[in-house]
Amino acid sequence: MQVLGIETSCDETAAAVVADGARVRSNIIASQAAIHERYGGVVPELASRRHLERLLPVINLALTEARVSWPEVDGIAVTRGPGLVGALAVGMAAAKSLAFVHGLPFVGVNHLEGHLFANAIGTGALPVPALALIVSGAHTDLVLVEAPHQYTMLGRTRDDAAGEAFDKVARAMGLGYPGGPALDRLGQTGDAATVPLPVPMQDGGLDFSFSGVKTAALRALAARPDPPQAFLAGLAASLQRVVADALVGRPQAILLAGGVAANSVLRRRLRDEAARLGVPVHIPPAELCTDNAAMIAVCGASRLARGERDGWALGVTSDLPLGQGA
Ligand code: KG4
Ligand code: ZN
Repeated sequence: MQVLGIETSCDETAAAVVADGARVRSNIIASQAAIHERYGGVVPELASRRHLERLLPVINLALTEARVSWPEVDGIAVTRGPGLVGALAVGMAAAKSLAFVHGLPFVGVNHLEGHLFANAIGTGALPVPALALIVSGAHTDLVLVEAPHQYTMLGRTRDDAAGEAFDKVARAMGLGYPGGPALDRLGQTGDAATVPLPVPMQDGGLDFSFSGVKTAALRALAARPDPPQAFLAGLAASLQRVVADALVGRPQAILLAGGVAANSVLRRRLRDEAARLGVPVHIPPAELCTDNAAMIAVCGASRLARGERDGWALGVTSDLPLGQGA
């Protein structure tokens, strides 16, 4: 079975072909970062327009690289939310049109469930039951995966997502957008003891909060005009250490997913902690953590294989929660 995946929820125009629900045959990502960089964040209207221009060429490239022609495609999986509504609509319209023209079944995929399924690349299935931590630019969710495609939300951030806190502090440090990867690189040369920052939310609950530590980092930066490089690297290291502490400290998550799962400090800390506890941990390769369509295709293939189909009336939902019609 060959599934074409389409992902346009934010600022990556992505298409991928996945075979047998497990093997990535192509994974094309056209990043719009250069367009949004000068605004310090994603401009929704520019994102939709760019998706419109890029999506069909990206899909064609995904098919060509996979050496798959349309008659060999068995189904289409497309992100239906959460994300920017105009950006999602471009992917959905393309998926429906292509499914209609080629007489194929299609299925809408929850973007967050897609991130989780980056852990199923290679095998086609998630280990269940499992605890999952999804950390992206917009979400910080702790989720119980009870059975295939069955979720219970255990905790979430009460304010900023972890990626959002990284991006905002990185922007104030002049690291550009998105700041997470730059912060990761810079922190590797820094001393995490440079700037004492509070570890967010240690009250034992399952929710997270990152606005306090973000503000503390911004204050430390403002208090240091003309900061030397060692200070900036130290601040980057300090921020990543407390964020990783907050994410790893309470839950013994065994599935890590979302763009922030690419973070080297978080990956190392979770692996160390899981090894200490003897819990197996699954983390996708870094390049499959950030937005891509292979994860959407793997998740969609699993749903299609269960006989799930969506109809032409399926819409996009900007705030689609995991586990609801997902
Ligand atoms: O999942 P994703 O690609 O998009 C959303 O669905 O939000 O996640 C993007 C987030 C951004 O906040 C970005 O700065 C962060 O993931 N990110 C990282 C790293 N790579 C991406 N944060 C820290 N370290 C990284 N290496
Ligand atoms: Zn994402």
